[in-house]
Amino acid sequence: MKFSILACLALAGTALSTVVERATPAEEPAELLKRSSTSTAPRAKCGTAFKYTGVNEAGGEVHVIPGTLGTDYTWPSPSSIDYFMGKGMNTFRIPFLLERLVPPATGLNGTFNSAYLSGLTTIVNYITNTKGGYAVLDPHNFMIYNGATISDNTKFAGFWTNLAKAFLSNSRVIFDLMNEPHDIAASTVFASMQAAVNAIRVTGATQLILVEGTSWTGAWTWVSSGNSAAFAGLKDPANNIAIEMHQYLDSDGSGTSATCVSSTIGAERLAAATLVLDPNTQCISAITGALCSMQQSGVWIGWLFWSAGPWWGTYFQSIEPPSGPAVSSVLPAILPYVTA
Ligand SMILES: *[C@@H]1O[C@H](CO)[C@@H](O)[C@H](O)[C@H]1NC(C)=O
Repeated sequence: MKFSILACLALAGTALSTVVERATPAEEPAELLKRSSTSTAPRAKCGTAFKYTGVNEAGGEVHVIPGTLGTDYTWPSPSSIDYFMGKGMNTFRIPFLLERLVPPATGLNGTFNSAYLSGLTTIVNYITNTKGGYAVLDPHNFMIYNGATISDNTKFAGFWTNLAKAFLSNSRVIFDLMNEPHDIAASTVFASMQAAVNAIRVTGATQLILVEGTSWTGAWTWVSSGNSAAFAGLKDPANNIAIEMHQYLDSDGSGTSATCVSSTIGAERLAAATLVLDPNTQCISAITGALCSMQQSGVWIGWLFWSAGPWWGTYFQSIEPPSGPAVSSVLPAILPYVTA
């Protein structure tokens, strides 16, 4: 399986989205060369660039049902999109409310409310067509629809069939299946997500799909919640899927306090989730962390990996091309540090 993680990091209500690509296994770099104090070689960033970065653009999901546009809920401002794209960001998550898009009168797998769909489509098209960004469609319902937990996967998958068809031709749309399920077994949430994935692919839609787990899809509880075990069987016929995890940085991980636990709490809370997706990530992180700190210090002039050579065979640290184990495991992770 190849997953990437989309991490929605939030600090005291201010949201920031990034994608963390899954790392590959690794061992350790060997020789580190100290930079002369007069060197002016440029310093690189810490690793590969993210593909998706941006913000959540809330407003369409605000919970007065059904509510009136402009009074109870609103759609994101194009000027806000412009602002962040001007900063180099490219991805915007658009929360909306299921009860407005598919009114309870017709049901979860019923027809869409055309005015609400139109409002959603307008801002999505602005992001994707006008600006060339990515728009993440986010039913912001916590797996609850019209006051009850969504338990009918035929209906849930039917909803996603309809939404995928509505955005079938827009390759810059990303499907985020459900915001923050909670108080449901991980295996139950997984079954719903898998059903929706399968239904979306039947429509012919090939866009990136993001699944979320139970326990508010928390990164720091990804293992303890059961999500890790449940989602191990996740399959996508189009092989274009990622797990979205959320992480607040206050003491109880709820985002209700403006006080962060520590300056390293973000990395620490994501570490367990990173590790479970790839047990060898710890080694890769050790390497890239070392290389990153070397670049930042400004005192190192280079590094050489131990080791290539024709007689290593299958030794795990062999980086001898073409098939030394470290060629596939280590090399991709250290290439970003080869040039500035
Ligand atoms: C909606 O889902 C139900 C299953 O609960 C199914 O019987 C029905 O045919 C679906 N309706 C549509 C329009 O797909």
